[in-house]
Amino acid sequence: MESKTGVRQETSGSKVRESASEDKRFKILETQMKRYQYRQDSLIEVLHKAQDLFGYLDDEVLTFVAQRLKLPPSRVYSVATFYHLFTLKPQGEHTCVVCMGTACYVKGADKVLAALEHDLGIKAGETTSDGRVSLVTARCIGACGLAPAVVYDGKVAARQSSDDALAVTRQWREHVTGGSHTH
Ligand code: FES
Repeated sequence: MESKTGVRQETSGSKVRESASEDKRFKILETQMKRYQYRQDSLIEVLHKAQDLFGYLDDEVLTFVAQRLKLPPSRVYSVATFYHLFTLKPQGEHTCVVCMGTACYVKGADKVLAALEHDLGIKAGETTSDGRVSLVTARCIGACGLAPAVVYDGKVAARQSSDDALAVTRQWREHVTGGSHTH
């Protein structure tokens, strides 16, 4: 909860709000599953697509896939954890996903990612040593019109500059959880 309000406070509200398109990722995933006729043996392909869209596989995504493919969640989880090519939700308190798809890349997503890596002292796929921030990349989150797009704790933010991204992650790291409430 606190983290979500944190994002809203720190980024200019309009940018975050503009991005209600995060649902779009589920729609795109749904379309993909439809293309596979919801076949259960398409699970691995579907999980690949999900990872491209979200950057990692969290409970919400795995449950969604399990429901649509009519598979027991345990089966979906075991496949997601078995294959090393799948990334489960990272450990950090907050997660920042930089879209590195073509549209975002040409608009400077690589610079945003480089700035984050430098500032946080980690590489994409890692979590800061204080456990605050996990940095992840995705391949096209389905919001190319908002490029370069970054997803902060599940909220898609449009046209992010390095400064925008650093403002959010710095605020995450400064914000003391478990006691201090900003309001
Ligand atoms: S390339 Fe980033 S949203 Fe499509």
